Amino acid sequence: MAAIQILPGIYSVGAVDWKIRNFHGHTYTTSRGSSYNSYLIIDEKITLVDAVYGPFAQELIDNIRQIVPLDKIDYIIANHVETDHTGALPILMPLCPKAKIFGTLKCQEGLFRHYYKHWNFQVVKTGDILELGKRTLTFIEAPMIHWPDSMFTYCPQDALLMPNDAFGQHYAANEQFDDQVDAGVLMEEAEKYYANILWPLGGVILKKIQDLQKLNLPLKMIAPSHGIIWRQDPNKIINAYLSWAKGEVKEKVVIVYETMWGATKKMAEKIAEGLSGAGMEVKIYDIGQSDRTEVITQMLTAKGFLFGSSTHDNDMLPNIAAFLEIVKGVRPKGRKIGFFGSYGWAGGAVAEMQETLKDCGAEFMAEAIAFKYLPDESEFMQCLEFGKSFTKFLK
Ligand code: FEO
Repeated sequence: MAAIQILPGIYSVGAVDWKIRNFHGHTYTTSRGSSYNSYLIIDEKITLVDAVYGPFAQELIDNIRQIVPLDKIDYIIANHVETDHTGALPILMPLCPKAKIFGTLKCQEGLFRHYYKHWNFQVVKTGDILELGKRTLTFIEAPMIHWPDSMFTYCPQDALLMPNDAFGQHYAANEQFDDQVDAGVLMEEAEKYYANILWPLGGVILKKIQDLQKLNLPLKMIAPSHGIIWRQDPNKIINAYLSWAKGEVKEKVVIVYETMWGATKKMAEKIAEGLSGAGMEVKIYDIGQSDRTEVITQMLTAKGFLFGSSTHDNDMLPNIAAFLEIVKGVRPKGRKIGFFGSYGWAGGAVAEMQETLKDCGAEFMAEAIAFKYLPDESEFMQCLEFGKSFTKFLK
């Protein structure tokens, strides 16, 4: 991707990663790739906001050189220390001899622990203002959105917010702006990003957005460091974040199961019949064959979850076990959970699933069902009733 002007004197100089399919060490499947956005501001002080992932350093350098020689860069803003936004710095910094880096204290500590370089670094705090010439940049610390060091950078003259990971999406595209891409796909990727990276941090996110709204900052553009820039209606993504952070949900249940010989699968489908008959939207996933990132995304707006497993060695099966570890980390406060399963000579899966999630913050339905081998007709009717009971439990 070449450098592209996004506002007069401000250029997108980052890189599109069309190939990446697993992000964050396989915790996030990026089926549409991603991008590492970096913004170059041409003013009396030439400023780069965020760098890119290390393997894309040359692309960043080439893009900057289309606009200015690297040795003209005065300032580099490091909104976030994570490698996908700073990995290029060890290559970039020797080419920018006068550049000073600005970031939070945690960012300074983190940068050193990542690269062990003594770069010229100035710690900034919320409300600090950096004069660039015609423009200024205001820094807003945003700890735990999503790392302790995270911050946002705001340019009042352009009503431009550069919030790094927040409001981003893993979405590779040649297009830059929300009005140039499919709105449905864009929101799908933004929701996936929130669900899989930010869900446990909803309380912090809600407070930060509400604090920013009180400041009444003019906002014409939100330029995150992954994916597409919001300019058509920046409030669209802010309102979506508010809804997700408040835990607003639909009349929807996500059933996730793993099955050995098909009995648990049949139970899941019969339970789903009970839920659908009671007016619930239902999504069913065999977690042994499903994309975990997609399942977590569907769970974000679901009122309840049902987890099922066959019993093996008195325990749940391994794919559902791994998935429930992710659910535990998401800390789905305010949601309701039920459990079901099948077994041969002895049970154990339901109890193990409950044990894994006991401190996740969700409420369990007291009744769980588990049947020996393949349920008979009367037991399948109990599955149907279980679905109806779970619907009542959600009310
Ligand atoms: Fe995109 Fe937290 O790094």
